[in-house]
Amino acid sequence: MDKKRIGVLTGGGDCPGLNPAIRGIVLRALDYEDEIIGIKYGWAGLIKADTMPLTLQSVEDILDKGGTILGSSRTNPFKKEEDVQKCIENFKRLNLDALIAIGGEDTLGVASKFSKRGLPMIGIPKTIDKDLEETDYCLGFDTAVEVVMDAIQRLRDTAKSHARVVVAEIMGRHAGWLALYGGLAGGADYILIPEVEPNLEELYNHIRKLYNRGHTWAVVAIAEGVQLPGFTYQKGQEGMVDAFGHVRLGGVGQVLAEEIEKNLGIETRAVILSHLQRGGSPSIYDRILGLRLGKEAVDLVHQGKSGYFIAIKGNELVPVDITLIEGKTKNVDPKFYESMKTFFNK
Ligand code: F6P
Repeated sequence: MDKKRIGVLTGGGDCPGLNPAIRGIVLRALDYEDEIIGIKYGWAGLIKADTMPLTLQSVEDILDKGGTILGSSRTNPFKKEEDVQKCIENFKRLNLDALIAIGGEDTLGVASKFSKRGLPMIGIPKTIDKDLEETDYCLGFDTAVEVVMDAIQRLRDTAKSHARVVVAEIMGRHAGWLALYGGLAGGADYILIPEVEPNLEELYNHIRKLYNRGHTWAVVAIAEGVQLPGFTYQKGQEGMVDAFGHVRLGGVGQVLAEEIEKNLGIETRAVILSHLQRGGSPSIYDRILGLRLGKEAVDLVHQGKSGYFIAIKGNELVPVDITLIEGKTKNVDPKFYESMKTFFNK
């Protein structure tokens, strides 16, 4: 049997489904009698050679657990050539045949760069933002949408009781998938996403229309990345960028709530769903997908493949050149958003 020594890391924002993927990797590796080395806290762990062995025992009770037993971070080794060299040296010192990186565009972008420098890499796509190119889906999104859906349903109850408007601010960075899908599934009365310039007059008219016809409450879902005219939170947070240059978002929901109250004279509240969207037990879909992705990643290593990430196309797992996702994000098509207005702008 061709036994391998395979490293695994989880990088970027955590999400439900990471532990099932780690479990999938370890269980499949047992079939090949591979050794799996967990690298802690994403790329930070490779810079420092901070590792833990992953055995059957380590993954026996993690299928239903949110987060990641390996820890995660937003470390970008390519910020310093010195860190790149440390990663390459540690990869060799740890005697790895390949590394499986589980992450979003940033983590997989780093894997792509290492792959170009000759380190065998396989990527697994995960992000609650679902904004990765070349794949229909990303691990973690399904569970996060359920959280958003549930939150919006709860907000509808209380908004109705008090005849208020409630604005729910939803994660997703510069993509509106989570806000749009969560808003639709939860029955939001209006949805704003970053891909489409906000039309506040349309929103106000819609709320007026609702109240006039006796629907005296509204839940408005707004993606955190929406740019409201005159809203300067990004400037206000200058310097608050991560190692990949992403601005820390948050606050647009409160601004919108104040605008609604000012313009319509209706009592309005804002809720930031924030990191609640990233925690919790993975959904059935994310559990099964995580297991399948983990297994597939180990199989690809054994097929001698490197420089691929596993795209989800329909129900198929397809290896795709990892360099194709570097620096790209997949956004909601404004035409699709417009067509979905049938369900929230009546
Ligand atoms: O990319 C996932 C995500 O949850 C985004 O939706 C959000 O903007 C960001 O991460 C928050 O990052 P952090 O946990 O570093 O504050």
